[in-house]
Amino acid sequence: MLEEQKEFARRRKQFLQMVGAGNIAVIASASMVHRNGDVEYPFRQNSDFYYLSGFDEPEAVIVFVPGRENGEYLIFCREFDEQTALWVGANAGLEGAVKQYAVDDAFPIDDIDDILPGLLENKNRLYFPMGAQPEFDQKLMDWSQQVRNRSRAGISAPAEFISSDHILHEMRLIKSAHEIKLMKKAAKISVKAHRQAMQTCRPTMYEYQVDANIKHSFMTQGAQHEAYPAIVGGGKNGCVLHYIDNKAVLNDGDLLLIDAGCEWQKYASDITRTFPVNGVFNEEQKALYQLVLDAQYAAIEQVKPGHHWNAPHEAAIQVLTKGLVKLGILKGRVPTLIKNEAYKPYYMHRTGHWLGMDVHDVGDYKLDNQWRLLEPGMVLTVEPGLYIQPNAKEVDIKWRGIGIRIEDDVLVTKKGHEVLTDRAPKEIKDIEALMGEARAS
Ligand code: GLY
Ligand code: MN
Ligand code: MN
Repeated sequence: MLEEQKEFARRRKQFLQMVGAGNIAVIASASMVHRNGDVEYPFRQNSDFYYLSGFDEPEAVIVFVPGRENGEYLIFCREFDEQTALWVGANAGLEGAVKQYAVDDAFPIDDIDDILPGLLENKNRLYFPMGAQPEFDQKLMDWSQQVRNRSRAGISAPAEFISSDHILHEMRLIKSAHEIKLMKKAAKISVKAHRQAMQTCRPTMYEYQVDANIKHSFMTQGAQHEAYPAIVGGGKNGCVLHYIDNKAVLNDGDLLLIDAGCEWQKYASDITRTFPVNGVFNEEQKALYQLVLDAQYAAIEQVKPGHHWNAPHEAAIQVLTKGLVKLGILKGRVPTLIKNEAYKPYYMHRTGHWLGMDVHDVGDYKLDNQWRLLEPGMVLTVEPGLYIQPNAKEVDIKWRGIGIRIEDDVLVTKKGHEVLTDRAPKEIKDIEALMGEARAS
């Protein structure tokens, strides 16, 4: 068996165990999404569905029935169809699902209304991704009701509806060796794209040209998708947190903020680098940039097993607030400023998020209302920033319109952490050296 198939089998085994005998779990695939006219968005499988099945088609439902004699893992999917094969490529079909994806039994998706209620009979708990696909939730309610209507025949319907998130998302939060390998590859591809962006960026280029170069780099390295739309913001556009317009010209003397990451075999990377369009930081840019970098180092330092989720954020805020006072942007005592969140006009987002199959990956950040402790195998981003809005009248004009974020992907290891994206330069001297070399050649 391929390493990958073993991995899916291992996950299913664990999931089946956690669902437990007498219960059932049902998870639907993603659907094709209409864009306009006869055009659809490229298909992206639902991460929970893929995590357990490796099956990459729409119109499918996987069912887990622990302890079922005739098979515990079932799929409903599209039958093999010559016309589909001719127009968009072959689908697995029922036979393919059994052979290639190790399902115990496969049924046509068109028969699900007839078959699924029978599987729900006499089960205690029904696990499903509650709320994620409301239309499918409704179907499950309808099927359950059909079973309930037969109660006089001595048949019972699941009495408890439970979100599968608690089980699946805890599993997804801790990455296996195989997943880490995929995430390292995603990181490597994105690092190269960021390096190339630094090397090829010139004043008078447009943001969309840099964006195109990044996409070109991802795709020529074999990554078929971005993990999210790239943010390519020159000058004050770097102060717009989710700027994706990417249409403006890049001016000599401005910074460029690029937040871009590829998806590799369903795993995301998420990198931000900020660098001068002309290759050399000016004094103000240098001061603010070094402050964000120091905050990022302090935050990364906090990533180790046993530290709580919020420790990196707290470290970043400490460094940023102190630095803003030193630069005269904030005035007052650091502890008071932190308590009053005085940094918020300039640093308004959190320092990171879980990273995995989804760029903002699943997993609880708090357990029993307490920040959870970091554990080996978790992957998170560390991404402090500073954004001095162009209209920040309270701030000396020399700082206005500067937006900086530095973001890396960090794996929690037994001993501490590993930065998966550290080959993308972020020290001022390293950025200037890489950009200088590219301009000289
Ligand atoms: N690229 C999305 C984020 O940094 O959270
Ligand atoms: Mn991020
Ligand atoms: Mn990002």
